[in-house]
Amino acid sequence: MLLSVKSVCKNFGQVSAVKSITFDVDNSAMIGIIGRSGAGKSTFLRMINRLVDASSGRILFKGQNVLSLRGAEMRRWQANCAMIFQQFNLVPRMDVVSNVLHGTLNQRSTLSTAFNLFPRADIQRAISLLERLGIEEQATKRVEALSGGQQQRVAIARALMQDPEMVLADEPIASLDPMNAQLVMDALRRIHDEDGRTVICNLHTLDTARRYCDRVIGMSHGEVVFDGPPDQLTTAVAREIYGADESFSEHSTSTEIREHAEHESVSQVQPKTPAQPVTTVN
Ligand SMILES: Nc1ncnc2c1ncn2[C@@H]1O[C@H](COP(=O)(O)OP(=O)(O)OP(=O)(O)O)[C@@H](O)[C@H]1O
Ligand SMILES: [Mg+2]
Repeated sequence: MLLSVKSVCKNFGQVSAVKSITFDVDNSAMIGIIGRSGAGKSTFLRMINRLVDASSGRILFKGQNVLSLRGAEMRRWQANCAMIFQQFNLVPRMDVVSNVLHGTLNQRSTLSTAFNLFPRADIQRAISLLERLGIEEQATKRVEALSGGQQQRVAIARALMQDPEMVLADEPIASLDPMNAQLVMDALRRIHDEDGRTVICNLHTLDTARRYCDRVIGMSHGEVVFDGPPDQLTTAVAREIYGADESFSEHSTSTEIREHAEHESVSQVQPKTPAQPVTTVN
């Protein structure tokens, strides 16, 4: 068993954000979590990554309860289930390569961090990850000069720098236009298909979950109300997940990702001053 979530709950004072979630992931998978605003999707992902402490329950990864990890062990786990956020959480004024290299931060000494010293092998790895994600031409630019879709792919590269077994993405495309949304979802699908990493992705639209995920978990009021393959996600089930009445239409949750992405527009914005250079050590 890869991941086993057992009766996990989270209360914020009087609010039950997550009420006893249980499910298993046997093998590497790409899983989408859907549900209306406030259903508990972010709280749940953040509990896996230990950004939020669960009130009760257990989360076992390969048999080990990750909710009881402390200190260095907990940080190792956090690197092993790298998170990607809607707002990218990059350092905007820093260049792209340095942002990606920050994925190795918890493996480096304070001194090398202070002087921005990175091993040459790490820099080469960062650049090959950027190549893989189709954004190597942006490597020396400041992050703030990139489009949202490019920034999210930088965040994916930073996550991959940690070589995680799982990638947790909290609404990774909610701030992106349809073309960039497609590029980012394609990238997440590839890191599952090609690397065998498990991807768990909170999504705000049904059609994206249907199109990209092998398994969809529907949450409502902190509970799992659907867990199955996308083809079982009928309109009636979707209505239950979203708590909508007869007027519910799929279209209202749709971003309508286009069939064919157009050529990616490369931002021409130049940084006012050169980005901070990366220094190598051997
Ligand atoms: N830090 C917090 N303190 C208090 N209440 C919180 C906190 N974080 C979340 N909640 C509450 O927990 C519930 C679940 O929130 P959560 O952010 O997990 O939902 P979500 O499904 O991710 O929603 P959205 O689609 O809007 O991102 C909500 O009622 C929310 O108000
Ligand atoms: Mg959320």
